[in-house]
Amino acid sequence: MRIAVIHGTNLRLLGSREPEVYGTDTLDDVNLHLGEVATELGVDLETFQSNHVGEILDFIEEAAARVDGFIINPGALTHTSIALLDAFLGVGRPFVEVHLSNTQGRESYRRHSYLAGSASGVVLGFGVHSYLLGLRGLVARLGG
Ligand code: DQA
Repeated sequence: MRIAVIHGTNLRLLGSREPEVYGTDTLDDVNLHLGEVATELGVDLETFQSNHVGEILDFIEEAAARVDGFIINPGALTHTSIALLDAFLGVGRPFVEVHLSNTQGRESYRRHSYLAGSASGVVLGFGVHSYLLGLRGLVARLGG
């Protein structure tokens, strides 16, 4: 089984970006922890980060041919991008939406997600553990 993890906009800044909201783990830390869980579960993992929606759409199209599913933290694209939703619907691969913060308890504009209704599951509010729980959930859903 192979899973792709996508980090969307502004997530390269993790570690220094609003640590009171997003914690102090860097993106490398997040990817390291994901790799540990992937090893435990016996799945192959690849990670990708971009601040550009077009690059993320291209990645989803290309990666869909080689992966069984996606974990995505879309960042602010969660709340704005129908194109991102359409990319996942277009490739027909299951995906899990994850957020470090509890977006439901923050500003009202963060409460709506274009992706959530089509996701296999959504995990929010657990910092880096949102990614790890999302990975475990997706692998279980895929029968791993
Ligand atoms: C986020 C929540 C989004 O609302 C925000 O725009 C982000 C990070 C999270 O992981 O909590 O960039 O996706």
